[in-house]
Amino acid sequence: MDNALRLQYLEAMGIDIWVPRAAPAPDRDEQLLIDNAAPEAAALAPTDHEPAQPGPDNWESLQAEVAACRKCALCETRTQTVFGTGNKQADWMVIGEAPGQSEDLQGQPFVGKAGQLLTEMLRALGLAREDVFIANILKCRPPGNRDPKPDEIDACHAYLQRQRALVQPRIILAVGRIAAQALLKTEAPLARLRGKVHTLDETPVVVVYHPAYLLRSLPDKRKAWMDLQLAMKTYTEG
Ligand code: URA
Repeated sequence: MDNALRLQYLEAMGIDIWVPRAAPAPDRDEQLLIDNAAPEAAALAPTDHEPAQPGPDNWESLQAEVAACRKCALCETRTQTVFGTGNKQADWMVIGEAPGQSEDLQGQPFVGKAGQLLTEMLRALGLAREDVFIANILKCRPPGNRDPKPDEIDACHAYLQRQRALVQPRIILAVGRIAAQALLKTEAPLARLRGKVHTLDETPVVVVYHPAYLLRSLPDKRKAWMDLQLAMKTYTEG
């Protein structure tokens, strides 16, 4: 909206507005003072070209930034970024480690075998995939599915933070050791992280086994169920 129209609207609403009088042109001495003013003062001086204040964050710009991201070397080897999917106003946010091969090809998180088990884990909680928002610590696949490197986690950190801020979940499920350690900024082993409720910016975080691990380790499925029950209890009592 142009300024004149904005002023008309404000006036019509009965809101008094201060409009600065056109300043007289500085005389020669004043001009010298302005020209020699410290750069800090010049930077503070109002201009007709004030930079636009950044507006509130939004999904469109975040998604576009992630898609074009070149902050770390994974951009060289990815097929595409994997932003995240699901309900953007979900109560539950599920955060995994990084895209694997299937995710890199399809552009969706948790769509391979581990993803199918994750879907079942959610179903056990009475949740469909579409009910939750699913994202990863990294938005790009590490080649050969190696563990994410610290600099990659750092480079991607702000994207996940912005996703969390946009979703505002009531509970976060951290899926697997790497996701839990990165989210909670700890090096504690999974055995010490699961089975309790952590908090991240006032949001409860429950750590669960990674479904890829559960596919290899049947005996831990019972413990995985206990983790899910802890998550549900935390959610319903929160
Ligand atoms: N494992 C993850 O941690 N995330 C995915 O998206 C897929 C597999």
